[in-house]
Amino acid sequence: MIKYVPEPFRIKSVERIKMTTREERERNIAAAHYNLFNLAGRDVYIDLLTDSGTNAMSTEQWAGVMRGDEAYAGAESYYRLVDTAREIFGYDYIQPVHQGRAAEKVLFPLLLGKGKVAISNMFFDTTRAHVELAGARAVDCVVPEAKDPARRCKFKGNMDTERLERLIAEYGAEKVGLIVMTVTNNSAGGQPVSMENVRKVSEIARKNGIPLCIDAARYAENAFFVKRDEPSCAGKSIREIVREMFALADMFTMSAKKDTIVNMGGLLGVRDSAAMADLVLRVKAACVSYEGFITYGGLAGRDLEALAVGLIEGLDEDYLRYRIGQMEYLASLLDDAGIVYQSPVGGHGIFVDAARLFPHIPAEEFPGQVLAIELYKEAGIRGCDIGSFMLGNDPDTGKQLKAEFEFTRLAIPRRVYTQAHLDVIAQALVNVRDYAHTVKRGYKIVWEPPILRHFQAHLEPLA
Ligand code: F0G
Repeated sequence: MIKYVPEPFRIKSVERIKMTTREERERNIAAAHYNLFNLAGRDVYIDLLTDSGTNAMSTEQWAGVMRGDEAYAGAESYYRLVDTAREIFGYDYIQPVHQGRAAEKVLFPLLLGKGKVAISNMFFDTTRAHVELAGARAVDCVVPEAKDPARRCKFKGNMDTERLERLIAEYGAEKVGLIVMTVTNNSAGGQPVSMENVRKVSEIARKNGIPLCIDAARYAENAFFVKRDEPSCAGKSIREIVREMFALADMFTMSAKKDTIVNMGGLLGVRDSAAMADLVLRVKAACVSYEGFITYGGLAGRDLEALAVGLIEGLDEDYLRYRIGQMEYLASLLDDAGIVYQSPVGGHGIFVDAARLFPHIPAEEFPGQVLAIELYKEAGIRGCDIGSFMLGNDPDTGKQLKAEFEFTRLAIPRRVYTQAHLDVIAQALVNVRDYAHTVKRGYKIVWEPPILRHFQAHLEPLA
């Protein structure tokens, strides 16, 4: 076990959570058709479904909520947000939007279309969906070591740059409409991306005339890893690292619901608005149609204000040390117990290797979902499957696809849970591991919607 990094804050307001019995939880999960997305939040003790929008705001952010200027156009809160974001990222044009996928929806159709491809170190689901909705194809190009959960190496979220160059040569540079660097790499387990890797990708993108976009949902956690693990950046501040990394890209999309510590919000940025004047014009037009007028972008003035404060708080080094410290503390408890996860632990959660805990349960019976359900039954913890259940069926054949990993993701909300909660999580995992051999079978799907089935599907335990 490693030492827990103490919180650089104290608690001013608390929210009661309900304690339930195993019998109640067994009834709840059955009534939810064994799908954790169907559970009522009130029936969950520790909610690790996502770290998105589930974070605790600070007193300063709540004060900002009161300060929020609700003018339809040109609100004070808009200027405060844009000035703050410009200073942090060094980008000319900043567009608020209501969340990350809204930025994707506004931007991607302007750069992608039929016959085009977008290449990423790994697309998040909605990011992939918006590439495809724009008519293009999404190609993942992560380094091979990301695919071995037990293998500990630094920057497992990186782009495989040799393969990237091969892909560009194969498709032809004119067909590659966009390169996306997701920092940290959520789908690979919150794994960081190094400055050196972004620099190399930026060189490749510029050489080939392809725009480079940062998916910045967890950019601050990424900067912390860069400072800690990349010797050339050790002497730099988090702010300097962020400035340097963003200077390597042309644009960014951001879900502010993660590292910017708000419950709702997003940003879209364009670095050089003169060189990209036409793109900026089209971003504004699309934003007005989909999100709302350009100075509020689908958010209330109070949201803009909380976001401006969250941008600054999310980059605080003491906060980031505590935040990543929580992950490392939890991971070290799993190390002591010999439970395998995508390692070293990433920035926002633990991705437990459920296939290792339930080796007798095949992919078609969804081991990641089995572990998520057992954790709920055991301790009221809600995580989610990142495996074959989430992946779904082949759109051509309708057959179940087999995922590369069978993970159960336990995403940790920011500034929400304490050391004792983390102890409960680790103990629940140990308990489930100890009785895992008695869970003989997994689940079958008895109803599913045509797309994104894992959010709504009904499951039944196999006898
Ligand atoms: N990009 C990344 C890397 C994400 O992780 C997410 C959301 C988005 C974009 C979309 O942002 O939700 O604000 O529209 N990830 C959440 C998760 C939902 O649970 O990992 P959004």
